[in-house]
Amino acid sequence: MINDETGDVGVDLLTCDGGFAVDGDENFQEELLRQLVLDQFLMGLMVIRQGGAFVCKIFDAFTPVTVALLYILYREFDRISIVKPYTSRPANSERYAARSRAVAWDNESAGQWRSANAWAPWVRAATAMW
Ligand SMILES: C[S@@+](CC[C@H](N)C(=O)[O-])C[C@H]1O[C@@H](n2cnc3c(N)ncnc32)[C@H](O)[C@@H]1O
Repeated sequence: MINDETGDVGVDLLTCDGGFAVDGDENFQEELLRQLVLDQFLMGLMVIRQGGAFVCKIFDAFTPVTVALLYILYREFDRISIVKPYTSRPANSERYAARSRAVAWDNESAGQWRSANAWAPWVRAATAMW
């Protein structure tokens, strides 16, 4: 829908802050939220325009799934940072992966990520690690 509404250009900025309570299971927060983080990353790569930016909440980065997702971002964006803002409660593991300036996508690679089908091998590989 976003790509349709923007003439397949995409958006300048996407922020994702998905989360739910894991009371009592804090040690497994990264595992419990991995599907949500994966979906947000998927959306980020599909709808951000060339030169756009993406900020997404993640949690710990101990599991291969999170590491793989951060690696994809490292490959696809000019610069990535992992930031713990002052306004984020110090005692929890949330932090934000901020990516700026999507690499100078040529039309071919931009189109590649716009298609959910392009993600199938990545999603399969990530879920195989679960
Ligand atoms: C930390 S809050 C976001 C707060 C929001 N940034 C704000 O300022 O109001 C996390 C939100 O993620 C939502 N959420 C959890 N799982 C979700 C899912 N699978 N799909 C969409 N939203 C989800 C929750 O309902 C909750 O509103």
